[in-house]
Amino acid sequence: MTTMTLQALIFDLDGVLTDTAELHYRTWQRVAEEEGFAFSRSLGDQLRGVSRRASLEAILAGRVLSEAQMTALQARKNDHFLTMLNHMTPADLLPGVLPLLDDARASGLRTAVASASQNAHAVLDRLGIRPRFDVICDGHSVLHSKPAPDLFLLAATRLNVPPSACVVFEDAAAGIVGARAAGMMVVGVGPPSRVDGANLVVSSLANVRLADLQRLVADRQPPAAEEMYA
Ligand code: BG6
Ligand code: MG
Repeated sequence: MTTMTLQALIFDLDGVLTDTAELHYRTWQRVAEEEGFAFSRSLGDQLRGVSRRASLEAILAGRVLSEAQMTALQARKNDHFLTMLNHMTPADLLPGVLPLLDDARASGLRTAVASASQNAHAVLDRLGIRPRFDVICDGHSVLHSKPAPDLFLLAATRLNVPPSACVVFEDAAAGIVGARAAGMMVVGVGPPSRVDGANLVVSSLANVRLADLQRLVADRQPPAAEEMYA
């Protein structure tokens, strides 16, 4: 049996490279308050990694609005988000991001962002790290967002690396499901209760060692026959 070698790191953005998960939470909370919809921290957590449209549908919890109302609420939420984004600077990078990207580059690994956000390029620009990635796939790149595997598979294709040679960093259940469906190993960033489907869990990227990721990929078991032919 040949062992696979780690070739690429694929990063979710919101909640992994920066704490924009909190901005998404606060801006949906504001829209929910304005409209009189129920909203809570636990619902906000379930929306991590979920597209703008699907997030609104989850908040509506079965209420039916016209297409024009849906569009208007999504636009208002995004306006609130962009206003907050104006205050973002490179100081908002989460701990460990720059050292990990430096280590990856020094080790010859390819790097990508796979984010469900249509604002991913703008966020990466505010953080000053856009040129550090070989590939950026965002909320405009695929039809089926997370938890579908499409965003991750597109990133691997554009990196020219097989999915089994990639490690994904995710803070959200939707992303973990998508990355695993893409056949990739996943590092969950955050409390174990939120990222329990991951292959490895860290509280912060500052705790990630490349050697651990290399081992994760090298030690992976081949899929069971029934998974391969499902
Ligand atoms: C994901 C966030 O990265 O992007 C979600 O975790 C967000 O909270 C989604 O809803 C879509 O973002 P945007 O910027 O297109 O509204
Ligand atoms: Mg995220």
